[in-house]
Amino acid sequence: MGKHNVRVFSSLEEMSWAGACAFEDLARLKAIEGKTFSAALSGGLTPRLLYHILASRALLGRIQWKNIHLFQVDERCVPPDHPDSNYRMIREALLDNAGIPAENFHRMQAEQSDLEQAARDYASELARVLQPQDGDRPRLDIVFLGMGPDGHTASLFPGTAALEEQSVWVRPNNVERLGLRRLTMTLPVLNGAAHVLFLVAGADKAEGLRKVLEGPPGQLPAQLIQPLNGSLSWLLDEAAARKLSPATRGER
Ligand code: 6PG
Repeated sequence: MGKHNVRVFSSLEEMSWAGACAFEDLARLKAIEGKTFSAALSGGLTPRLLYHILASRALLGRIQWKNIHLFQVDERCVPPDHPDSNYRMIREALLDNAGIPAENFHRMQAEQSDLEQAARDYASELARVLQPQDGDRPRLDIVFLGMGPDGHTASLFPGTAALEEQSVWVRPNNVERLGLRRLTMTLPVLNGAAHVLFLVAGADKAEGLRKVLEGPPGQLPAQLIQPLNGSLSWLLDEAAARKLSPATRGER
């Protein structure tokens, strides 16, 4: 893969603070311009501390939510109060503590029986808020992505149909290997973002991360995240980065 903007932090906490500061800085710039700031949040465990930090910074008045709209990158097909729900994790870590106007968080309704309709509804919500020019894809200001040990990101798992999607912005995805159904943003939306930040922590990610950043290109879903007109950053902790070469780590 080409040169990456890789930053390695000594801990998950340091990494999370860096991600939260990037969010805060970019949101402030858009607020100065009087424009809407849009962010898409991943689920899983890694970003939870970052979301807690955002909530704490907001309580200090450092983040003005009135012009910020939050979306979900993906969601499991469970009720919103289910322990596996990404929404539940985001609500508990961020929404319940930061005073975000309810209309500024856009929940993926993956519990719906008609997932195709839920996907269309979410794509309409993206269009309503981000108002892309005719024929354009929505341009999110920042997207926080995680990565599984298998190199999946969002709910784009190796060998699944959603990886091939080049037109719709949100779609269901069957993950037969795991017996899961998910709702996920697709590569056209993720690669249309202005800033994509991967947050990867933990020793269990080290081998997958080495393959993604140093292995043959185009093999794993996370390698397909290549913003067309935006930045791509990898925020890692030491445990996840331990198999990376000094060059990949950005060390001379
Ligand atoms: C999800 C996420 C998924 C996640 C990775 C990493 O719905 O689970 O969107 O893509 O980011 O699986 O998960 P962890 O952060 O829990 O390791």
